[in-house]
Amino acid sequence: MEVVPLESSDEVARLAADTIEAAVRARPDAVLGLATGSTPLPTYRELIRRHQAGEGPSYERVQCFTLDEYVGLPSGHPESYRATIARELTDPLGIDPARVHGPDPTGAGLASAGDRYEAELVAAGGVDLQVLGIGSDGHLAFNEPGSSLASLTRIKTLTEQTRRDNARFFGSVDDVPRHVVTQGLGTILRARHLLLLAIGAGKAEALAAAVEGPLTASCPASVLQLHPHASVLADPPAAAALA
Ligand code: F6R
Repeated sequence: MEVVPLESSDEVARLAADTIEAAVRARPDAVLGLATGSTPLPTYRELIRRHQAGEGPSYERVQCFTLDEYVGLPSGHPESYRATIARELTDPLGIDPARVHGPDPTGAGLASAGDRYEAELVAAGGVDLQVLGIGSDGHLAFNEPGSSLASLTRIKTLTEQTRRDNARFFGSVDDVPRHVVTQGLGTILRARHLLLLAIGAGKAEALAAAVEGPLTASCPASVLQLHPHASVLADPPAAAALA
């Protein structure tokens, strides 16, 4: 694993954007795995800025896969991860919505949502570059502590801490869904390159546990230690607890 402590969150965003652009330049039909949440937003804004300035690669042929989706939100809800990734990245980059995939936990499809998503990932040839954030409890996607290291896409229950962390997107913790469909840790490990971004003091303890602690389901992000090509970009507050 390469851990790259950087001087600022802006630098994290620039280097992450460089990495994503390089993947698309190397393979114009790259399969990108996209995290949602706050952490990747500055990176996504940087990609959009470069695209609008005519500096970025063409995204016409890429395919995108989100990591996870809330269960129970009405279709088109602005905080659904499908709507979020369209608004924050893929629409501004001009990516056809048909090329943007996410778990579909709606209606009668909930029980099969995990298997169907795994099949979509396989059909696309797997993820070339997976952008990740880390939860303050060490979660990766929505694999909370205790998740199987070999897990595949499935339904999970959010912890109260994660629901509290995400209440800022919903106005109140009571409005945060209790369940999600998330890629498993085993699913994430299949991506060819993992790019974990960590910004802010709230991530320091979890990042140190993931990178320097034991490989354990108690810190799901520690699975990065198993991956042959994992990169971690951290700003100073997030890197503060690293040795
Ligand atoms: C989002 C996701 C989550 C977030 C994590 C950190 O798709 O899978 O694991 O990456 O909760 O969230 P932020 O970046 O909002 O601190």
